[in-house]
Amino acid sequence: MKFNRRQIHPVIILMMFLVFEPFAPATEIKPTVALLPRPVETTFTSDCFLLQENTPIRINSPQLQSVATGLQTMLSVPSGYPLPVKQSSSPVSLTKTGISLELLDTPDPKLGDEGYRLDVTPDRIRIRANQPAGIFHGTQTLQQLLPDEIESRERISRTQWPVAGARIVDYPRFAWRGLLLDVARHFFSKEDVMDLIDQMARRKLNILHLHLTDDQGWRIEIKSHPELTAVGAWRVPRVGVWRRYSPRQPGEKATEGGYYTQDDICEIIAYAQARFVTILPEIEMPGHALAMIAANPDLSCLGLPYDVASGRVNRRQGERDNVLCIGNPRTYEVVADVIAEVAELFPGKYLHLGADETSPRFWLQCDKCQALARRENLIGEDQLQPYFTRRVEQLVRDHGKTMIGWEEIVDDGIAPGTPIMSYRPGQAEATAIAQGTPLIIADSDHYYFDQVQGTAQLEPNANPRPGNMIRLIDTYHFDPVPAGADDAAILGGEGCLWTEKVRTVRKMQYMFWPRALALAERLWTPQSHFDWPDFTRRMIRQLPRLDLRNINHAPSAFEPIVELIGEGSNQKIRLKTEIPGVELHYTFDGSDPDQYYPRYETPLTLPRDANEIRVVAYWQGKRIGRQLNHVFFNPFPDRPEKPVPPFKTIW
Ligand code: ACM
Ligand code: ZN
Repeated sequence: MKFNRRQIHPVIILMMFLVFEPFAPATEIKPTVALLPRPVETTFTSDCFLLQENTPIRINSPQLQSVATGLQTMLSVPSGYPLPVKQSSSPVSLTKTGISLELLDTPDPKLGDEGYRLDVTPDRIRIRANQPAGIFHGTQTLQQLLPDEIESRERISRTQWPVAGARIVDYPRFAWRGLLLDVARHFFSKEDVMDLIDQMARRKLNILHLHLTDDQGWRIEIKSHPELTAVGAWRVPRVGVWRRYSPRQPGEKATEGGYYTQDDICEIIAYAQARFVTILPEIEMPGHALAMIAANPDLSCLGLPYDVASGRVNRRQGERDNVLCIGNPRTYEVVADVIAEVAELFPGKYLHLGADETSPRFWLQCDKCQALARRENLIGEDQLQPYFTRRVEQLVRDHGKTMIGWEEIVDDGIAPGTPIMSYRPGQAEATAIAQGTPLIIADSDHYYFDQVQGTAQLEPNANPRPGNMIRLIDTYHFDPVPAGADDAAILGGEGCLWTEKVRTVRKMQYMFWPRALALAERLWTPQSHFDWPDFTRRMIRQLPRLDLRNINHAPSAFEPIVELIGEGSNQKIRLKTEIPGVELHYTFDGSDPDQYYPRYETPLTLPRDANEIRVVAYWQGKRIGRQLNHVFFNPFPDRPEKPVPPFKTIW
């Protein structure tokens, strides 16, 4: 070990502070080392690097200036240390102490575009990569090697900022690691979106798919069509049971909604670019288009005036006329104008045009659509949407971009290389793989974060489909590569948050986290590291970090699950939770248990006459999550529930 004469060796400081520092228990360093996603190769060492006031951040290329400034801000805010950024042309100076960010002169093929090497020794921290993206991901790993308080948005008074010693080689399994945020069903401010981008970047998620338009709202300013936001961004306010929202009342104003101006979009894009996140815009067509139609009534086949929907539009597909008329030339004019502005605004390669859940019902009854079918020799209803798809795909290509669509377009004669996003396991994937069509997996049984993530009675109002609860463990256990295919068959995956029932940013965060951590791990980390207990240990260590950023997260994975096992008189109650090591305590007498009540060990028999079990979870001696009251039967079957009278207050 080399000792720097001017300072006490960091290991000694670390030992002193482990022993004497009253606020730094001996476990302080170790638990912070919980990297998520788990790197490809990690070797931890017993020493550490201590950040100092003037630890320099050196770069060997001007291309790294913004990554270095980002790292400086990330570390300076909580530590209060200035950490000056220094550009260095000679490789020699990069060997000095401090943090060095280095683009490799000779590319390392193993690292690809996003991989990096990170070495933390007592004297220096070194991040090396082929591309700035790799250096950026390395800085995010470096951040996770520091104590949790490094997440603070305010200065923290700590005596030391140790970076755990490590040697890491890391690169992603898949290039496409995305989240979808539906900003159409409910609008989220640009600040909310930027906070989400921050959290994504921390976990090496690199695509934010914004579902910008739907029946319930149009969320992007289109300068050539101001009506799209003037009308399409606003609906009458409703709250309660989404499916039962009432239509606009006479004279009622449409006051709920919002949209991003083009300046907002540019700000979001710049924010994302600085974090190596690409924003994928989705403009839904020809279905899910009621907001566009409300603003332009001549674009639907019936041409009737409509309001932007507050709640559900279709109980069954085709019930409502929320589909663009594909026989009307004006449809293509408006679509072309929109695509032109969207293509100009977003620097990414792809533009998503939706295309899911479209019924041909109104096309079949529409003179314009039928005239089109005769003119273009479109035989049968199955040829109508493919005609539209190919036309709009050409519009996208005219702007040098590539279209993406939902899996419905897989047979539409799309150009080779046009990716599809599959959401129903199996159906389109096999065709896409056979055709060599790039695939993005957005599996609705594992990656749809609008679905409840725990026992439904404990969860906030979400989308429980029968058999489609998506627990953290389900997202983690799902391997996105379809059976029989290999990794090269898919670009990657996306976790989708449809927001019909997500009105607030707190709930948006609750639905994403911690499931998006499982997604991030599975899309980055090699399959050979698949290890649920290890993942849960590291996932738990991310939660205080989310707390420090005021990001809400669901406790569902810790909470009790009640199952009945066996038959007849042998039937027993089994309690479990997803997270290994959680303790469950229960009662049968209707009282609320705590850690002094019996702890669950083995399956239980329901005591004679008892009709309910109440269960709570404890993690490392602390109560966690909500109490589950599971009622097995109504003890008074002859007495129907009476409505509870309204409360009377006496003050
Ligand atoms: C979808 O769930 N219809 C994309
Ligand atoms: Zn029509």
